[in-house]
Amino acid sequence: MKYVYLLFVVSLFGLSTISIENPTTAAELGEKLFFDPILSLDTTISCASCHIPAFAFADTNRFSLGVAGQQGSRNTPSSMNMMMRERFFFDGRAATLHEQVTQPIHNPVEMALSVQAAVSRLRGNEYATYFNAIYGAAPDSALLADALVAYIFTLESPGNSAFDKWMAGDTAAMSASAVRGRTLFMGDKAKCFDCHFSPDFTGDEFRNIGLYNASDTLNDVGRFEMTKDSSDLGKFKVPGLRNIAITTPYMHNGMFQTLEEVVDYYDEPTDFVQGAMNIDTLLQKPLNLSAQEKIDLVAFLQALTDEQFVGE
Ligand code: HEC
Ligand code: HEC
Repeated sequence: MKYVYLLFVVSLFGLSTISIENPTTAAELGEKLFFDPILSLDTTISCASCHIPAFAFADTNRFSLGVAGQQGSRNTPSSMNMMMRERFFFDGRAATLHEQVTQPIHNPVEMALSVQAAVSRLRGNEYATYFNAIYGAAPDSALLADALVAYIFTLESPGNSAFDKWMAGDTAAMSASAVRGRTLFMGDKAKCFDCHFSPDFTGDEFRNIGLYNASDTLNDVGRFEMTKDSSDLGKFKVPGLRNIAITTPYMHNGMFQTLEEVVDYYDEPTDFVQGAMNIDTLLQKPLNLSAQEKIDLVAFLQALTDEQFVGE
């Protein structure tokens, strides 16, 4: 079953020459590790249990399950398009991807295995041979991170979404509605581009869209946890929007199921959340989007889906 899954992933990215059974490059080794539950305490959970290839390496469950059915409090984001990111996790607690990739291993509600224990396991089986052949050294935590990063760096969108084709001059690639949606997205009325800029639609900043009000349900302080600076209260890393149509649910807490709901939220946040604290000045007034404008924005967001996920 696992092998079938791997073949699926391999064909998904057109890397048909990869032999996962016998990795010969750091990226192939990282791929094997990403799909191997060996990195979890009870060998039931792999990175791919939560970062599911068919959903652009995100999870459609609101909160993913770690070892022993444990749940965290944040929705699993896509692990694609990480190459250009400046910080990692919703609160930016990892400054580099190398720093990020070992954290799920020892996170008690995710894989719950110390990195040292993971390394010992790898030293005691066929992985020792692979590490030696690829790195000329036995597995250690730095090389484990290096291999995982090398694999994640292969998960860049190839630039074949309807939007990319349209940008390249294929005027038929996006519907008229999606083209209007793009104009709205970029413009002063909807303001999306003020935060979701750059080729992956994130400027890698931390912003507060109004999902913190210190209530029992909206109590994640986000970036503030790291900086203890009150101006960071309720700020989260602006997520990239590539493949957003297939990574439901949305936001750090997975509170929205559909893109329609997300757009309704931005249009009038107070319809959803009372007493939001420290909300961004851009979102302090309703956007007053018409029904057609909302449809157009969603059509644009749907046009950001890479070709290999269209029809999923
Ligand atoms: C139990 C589910 C689970 C497992 C297992 C898991 N992750 Fe994650 N991953 C998450 C969640 C949830 C987040 C967001 C957490 C946060 O921001 O606080 C995340 C965040 C990330 C990010 C950062 C994305 C960003 O935009 O900043 C990357 C990269 C990532 N994981 C890679 C991995 C790798 C590599 C592994 C395996 C070693 C792994 N994950 C295992 C759930 C999981
Ligand atoms: C003030 C900055 C800001 C503006 C303006 C903004 N966003 Fe966001 N956006 C964010 C942040 C920050 C998040 C993550 C919030 C969270 O996880 O709690 C986010 C999350 C999202 C998500 C969910 C991403 C995911 O993976 O869960 C979508 C979709 C989205 N925004 C679309 C839009 C659209 C469409 C607009 C314009 C109508 C817009 N955004 C305007 C900052 C902004």
